[in-house]
Amino acid sequence: MAFLQFPDGFQWGVATASYQIEGAIQEDDRGVSIWDTFVRQPGRVQGGDTGDIACDHYHRYPEDIALMADLGVQTYRFSIAWPRIFPFGRGAVNEKGLDFYDRLIDALLDRGIEPAVTLYHWDLPQWLQDLGGWANRAIADAFAEYARVCFDRFGDRVARWITLNEPIVFTEMGHRIGVMAPGIRDLSIYAKTVHHALLAHGKAVQVFRAGGHTGEIGITHANTSYEPADDTPETAQAVEFARDFDTRLFHGPVFGKGYPASVVRNFESKDAPFPVFPGDMETIAAPTDFLGTNLYSRGLIEADPGRGVGYRRAMPRLPLLPMGYEAAPHALGDFVRFVSKEYGYPKIYITENGVCDNTEPGPDGTIDDHVRIDLLTGFLAGLHGAIQDGCDVRAYYQWSLMDNFEWAFGYSKRFGIVHTDFETLKRTPKRSAGFYADVIRRNGLEA
Ligand code: BGC
Repeated sequence: MAFLQFPDGFQWGVATASYQIEGAIQEDDRGVSIWDTFVRQPGRVQGGDTGDIACDHYHRYPEDIALMADLGVQTYRFSIAWPRIFPFGRGAVNEKGLDFYDRLIDALLDRGIEPAVTLYHWDLPQWLQDLGGWANRAIADAFAEYARVCFDRFGDRVARWITLNEPIVFTEMGHRIGVMAPGIRDLSIYAKTVHHALLAHGKAVQVFRAGGHTGEIGITHANTSYEPADDTPETAQAVEFARDFDTRLFHGPVFGKGYPASVVRNFESKDAPFPVFPGDMETIAAPTDFLGTNLYSRGLIEADPGRGVGYRRAMPRLPLLPMGYEAAPHALGDFVRFVSKEYGYPKIYITENGVCDNTEPGPDGTIDDHVRIDLLTGFLAGLHGAIQDGCDVRAYYQWSLMDNFEWAFGYSKRFGIVHTDFETLKRTPKRSAGFYADVIRRNGLEA
């Protein structure tokens, strides 16, 4: 055991997202989102759960900010619900929606907590989906307009902006695999959504720069740290293919490297080209200030020459968490090293990392989520190692502040360091909350 000291000025935070915590879906003229629609389709969400009430954060945000202050977090990452700002269509801004986020931001600043705002964490206005959603190129301008309204209203108090949360997840899960809203399964639609999401990101960055705002802007990607299942050259090549179809497909264009050739070839052979117009790749590559990195696990890869993509997931070898993926705490440091080297050591914020651990209160009411604590210890030790090796990581956000609506899994998966009782909406800090508060206080940990 040694004490791992993080660099001076390193920031510790917690993260959430609007649809997962807010509830109050009809309040203050909020419009309908694609998740409101999706959760009402039979069989889409486990247990028929919805985000109608979720954690009722819309009303209980003062209590939630008090919990953050008790933890000692320096920054809070949350998302703005687009349907609260543009409920009905382009042009018509909803003042009451803006007011809610004004109140939230001011309350955070009062407690000395810096807001980090995600503009899009998957709750697309339904009226935009009715126009084709991310498959319609016009969405990029609608997003830029929404971003402009948010920058103009909150830019005096918000210094950290994330355009999109995990485009690979809302494009692929929503349009190729179909297990998330809007529930489509079509490769050519998926290809369009990828390109339009990245284009929307680039346009928002341009709007931010043109507005002369002083804060920082970046994008957050979902990541898996890919590892070879054996040491053959074929498997090494398969790992590179996995990185192409997952990491490089989304990071490459943002860092000016374009779409990976292997992915372009594969999609074109299936009549699913990326709909790139002249100038698009320059827009997408508009320089950002940081890279947002989310990571939960690793992926063991083996070659599969029979499949077009050339790789497949090998059988897991580590214990599985309730989400079905491996408990692999070394993956965070490994991935940060990989992505740093690949893209020239950008400034990185770990915008999400956390553990699904469904531990419920014991007889005395305490929640002993020791699996979460063990894994977080490993994740943070790995991250510390990557920083020692020269990776420029400046902040870490724990997912999540509290148990919340876990998309297609409903309320069956708990990621919070604070327990939410979904009957009473009572919040109870878990043992991991005490662990995290210690990490923050000492700016480091014993590992
Ligand atoms: C998402 C969160 C989600 C978390 C845990 C991330 O992919 O951004 O919304 O709750 O993973 O599954």
